[in-house]
Amino acid sequence: MSTFDDYLATFDVEPGYLNWAAFGPLSPSVREEVFADADLLGSGRPSSLALVGERIPQAKELIAELVGGEPDEVTLQPSSTHGLAHALYGLSGTAIAATGEFPSISLTLERARQASHGALTARWITPPDGRVTADAVAEALDDEVTALAVSHVDFRTGYRVDIAALREVLGPDRLLIVDAVQSFGLVEADFAAADVVAGHGYKWLRAGRGTGFAWFSARARERIAPLLSGITGTTAEGLAVDELPEPAASARAFTVSGPDTLAAGRLAIGARDVRDVGVAAIEHRLADRVDEVIAIADRHGIAVTSPRERDRRAGIVTLAPEEPARLAAALANAGVVVTARGSSVRVAPHAGTDAETLRLLDDAIGAFGSEKFTVA
Ligand SMILES: Cc1ncc(COP(=O)(O)O)c(C=O)c1O
Repeated sequence: MSTFDDYLATFDVEPGYLNWAAFGPLSPSVREEVFADADLLGSGRPSSLALVGERIPQAKELIAELVGGEPDEVTLQPSSTHGLAHALYGLSGTAIAATGEFPSISLTLERARQASHGALTARWITPPDGRVTADAVAEALDDEVTALAVSHVDFRTGYRVDIAALREVLGPDRLLIVDAVQSFGLVEADFAAADVVAGHGYKWLRAGRGTGFAWFSARARERIAPLLSGITGTTAEGLAVDELPEPAASARAFTVSGPDTLAAGRLAIGARDVRDVGVAAIEHRLADRVDEVIAIADRHGIAVTSPRERDRRAGIVTLAPEEPARLAAALANAGVVVTARGSSVRVAPHAGTDAETLRLLDDAIGAFGSEKFTVA
């Protein structure tokens, strides 16, 4: 792929798709290469299997490049929640998290707390609008606090936290554990200022499920006990039989078993396509698309509760219509795919979202009658 226009041309999804925050339809390059890899695995030839096995280091290298870390600090995981579990189960002390987090953080932290037999305490915060600002964290800080777990971009509110400000308020000794599912490959960020960055490839990277990953900084590897470490996470090089080796000192300790090479291939291709065009270009184009969605909502008098400032959002626009269920039904009938949850409707374009899709959104809302959605 040579130019940004070539990248945009790979968005061959049907018009009306505005649900990238839930699932990213697979890109043509991911689809092509997974078929090729599957054919190689079908041959049974050791050289072919080894070729597909190369996808593992490729994926780690590309994720490391995008995080700003080293390949051996990256682990491939079945999902981002698996990566977060490795981090959260290994904590001790007190971990701060917001009650409104995606359950990959909240529920996993609670389970980790229960399993810790008192070694780990959760300190729940419920900041205004669910926004985990540096001030909200500062209010909850004391000497007991050892970690903060937070979504870089919140799945409901669309709010993008300020990683640098959170690091500053936490200081150098507490761990910053970041769920980057709704931002990775989409907005530029100083991920290396965090200690753990977990994500996956099945939304914005267009790589399908099974493509989780987690990066562990030196501080994370030092402070987080690899409690969930499995057969690939030991000091032994090969299979350890008749012995019970310790967990490795490297990030490998935060793995359980061998990765799915087909998934690693999909992740590598999804990440490569992003790396080739550059996150900055994607972020810029996406910001324009998000502006257009916000303008459509404004035109029809629908309240927007997600941030309007470019640096405090990524790809999520949250609408708070007066009649959310009726708006969701109208959009579905018009072939516009979004996520409706409770009182909100989440609209999530990608950089490659076309004008036709935005026109469908505009027409569907307009045809339904703007007065029906207007918050008085
Ligand atoms: C912020 C956030 N974290 C985690 C997840 C779950 O990721 P996974 O399926 O890789 O565990 C999602 C899925 O929507 C999400 O939005």
